[in-house]
Amino acid sequence: MLHANGIFTSAGVKRLGIPDLVTDDGPLGVREEVKPGWGSANLTTDSATFFPNGSALAATWNPELAFRYGHDMGEEARKRNITVMLAPAFNICRTPLCGRTYEYYSEDPFLNARLAVQSVKGMQSQHVAACVKHYAVNNQEVERDFVSVNVDERTLREIYLPAFKASITEGNAWTIMSAYNKLRGTYCSENDYLLNHILKGEWKFKGMVISDWGGVHSTVNAANHGVDLEMGSPLPYNTYHFADKLLDSVKAGKVSMRVIDDKIRRILWVMYHTSMSENKPAASINTPQHSKTAYDIATESIVLLKNENHLLPLNTAAIKSIAVIGDNATHTFHLGGFGAGVKARYEVTALAGLKNKLGKDIAITFAQGYSGVYRPSRRNAGNEFGKPDSAMIAQAAATAKSADMAILFIGGNRDYESESRDRKDLSLPFNEQPLVDAVTAANPKTIVVVVGGAPYDISQIKKNNHTIVWSWYNGSENGNALADVLTGKINPSGKLPFTFPAQLKDSPAHALNAYPGENLKVDYKEGILVGYRWFDTKKIEPLYCFGYGLSYTDFKYSGFTTNKKSYKPTDLITATLKVKNTGKYAGKETVQLYISKTGSVVERAEKELKAFKKLKIAPGETASVTLNIPVKDLAYYDVKTSKWVVEPGKYKLLAGTSSRDIEQSGMITVD
Ligand code: BGC
Repeated sequence: MLHANGIFTSAGVKRLGIPDLVTDDGPLGVREEVKPGWGSANLTTDSATFFPNGSALAATWNPELAFRYGHDMGEEARKRNITVMLAPAFNICRTPLCGRTYEYYSEDPFLNARLAVQSVKGMQSQHVAACVKHYAVNNQEVERDFVSVNVDERTLREIYLPAFKASITEGNAWTIMSAYNKLRGTYCSENDYLLNHILKGEWKFKGMVISDWGGVHSTVNAANHGVDLEMGSPLPYNTYHFADKLLDSVKAGKVSMRVIDDKIRRILWVMYHTSMSENKPAASINTPQHSKTAYDIATESIVLLKNENHLLPLNTAAIKSIAVIGDNATHTFHLGGFGAGVKARYEVTALAGLKNKLGKDIAITFAQGYSGVYRPSRRNAGNEFGKPDSAMIAQAAATAKSADMAILFIGGNRDYESESRDRKDLSLPFNEQPLVDAVTAANPKTIVVVVGGAPYDISQIKKNNHTIVWSWYNGSENGNALADVLTGKINPSGKLPFTFPAQLKDSPAHALNAYPGENLKVDYKEGILVGYRWFDTKKIEPLYCFGYGLSYTDFKYSGFTTNKKSYKPTDLITATLKVKNTGKYAGKETVQLYISKTGSVVERAEKELKAFKKLKIAPGETASVTLNIPVKDLAYYDVKTSKWVVEPGKYKLLAGTSSRDIEQSGMITVD
């Protein structure tokens, strides 16, 4: 019961009526069945709903959608008889280059935690265990199997652990995956401090710790220090650390029966909640409801970056022809990226979505513009994309010229952004910039839609183009959602869940030369100043800041007040303000509430997100918004006493429409 007996399974005990444990990837949907060697089992019964990627979900800033994402994926997993979904994944975005940024949520621990808790709750409401991953500090893919992370204790507690902690203590996650990398010289899969002390001790975790695949490196240390189930790809299974070797170690007295019993108890405890539970609701897969969830997440995730000429929403009555350009208009995104692929029952591409919604009245032409095939090799290292394809670019420009307007789809794809490697830089792949330039010159009425799961350097586009939309690997309903946002059926409300740096070296880990480390060691020198905490504190202008995203309407903030001026450490701060929709479209706004502590005894970030609320406001309507911050959430982690400490004194509260557009503020005191 303690080690794999298949790629995604471990054995039960027939004699005792204990079922096998069946896991599967996540986090973008239930992964297809694979055969030994990881190839597709080529079944026709295992297609599933493709949900938008993690950073897309985070861009919605909508915990209710995170719940529905978990709920529907759980329902699909159970239909496939899966006990444990290897999702959600939410390591902090420390460097924008991390190959799994698209799977993860955010650079901010608070937004991260709020979404993680709801994803877990949704999934487990279906009696499928969430396996939150990757615990912990798995923030780069370069050397992920060996790299040792050196991070100070305060940063670990304030930045990298909060979402894991919340998913256990609030979300009640039944399982967790230990990460591949080391923390302070010790593999996370044999890290007594992370697994026994913090997770099972401080957080009172009752469930099971599952190793990442092939991530266990020892028998006695891993067994005694907290891993409960060793997973990996097939070797002869009896050679696993937790197979014959564990038996020998028990016989030799190096691992006690108490430790073994504890692991079995944890596994059974998970089974009682899942596969052996008697009150499981009905399971289903690929339902209209699941498609609707994928659609709702996609529509709320799309970020309007620039709309200077008010080209959006499209004035469809006045448009006769649209040139749709770019490989990403016809590319699908459900497969790729290593483990997080989903064999989607269907995926509506951007071109198909636009044709569905507009094709009757508007002539839509298409030119591919570039090839999105990504095949890096040693031979083409440093020049993976070769030269721009001038014939394709010329054809795209001609197509754009002969239409009323152009919508150009560029960005990354699921081959380019992937597990097990990081991107080398932030530049747009596939020679996209010359294409953007040519199409824009051919038709100044060009809307640029960038598709990606992580920040890219789009500074040229920001400079030269008037209309920019950010989209993601946006699930089965991708194209329909995009078309509805472009036409204004849905007003965009996505906000960036991470900072887009103007240049890579502005990012903290890169500014300090603290990535990807040397000699398999990486020092998190920026400490707590991750993401916007760094940019704000060091006064560096980003390309687009954390929390940024426009709407077709305008919101005016006013009347910020707090229920009191002075608080005790056990109090709740209740802040209220008014937000008026002053434009002509109904829209959703995410009000973000940051705190700022001046004159602190410890280093503090310029501001930290502590609350947010997304709400729908009709044109002309004024909404009253209430945001709560428990005073205890103002605490910093004090390394001397190993306790969270709320400093007395003054705190600024900053309410904004992004981390840099602060509209209202107030001051409170903590006694
Ligand atoms: C990944 C995990 C995944 C596992 C099983 C590993 O390579 O890091 O996230 O769940 O493979 O596919």
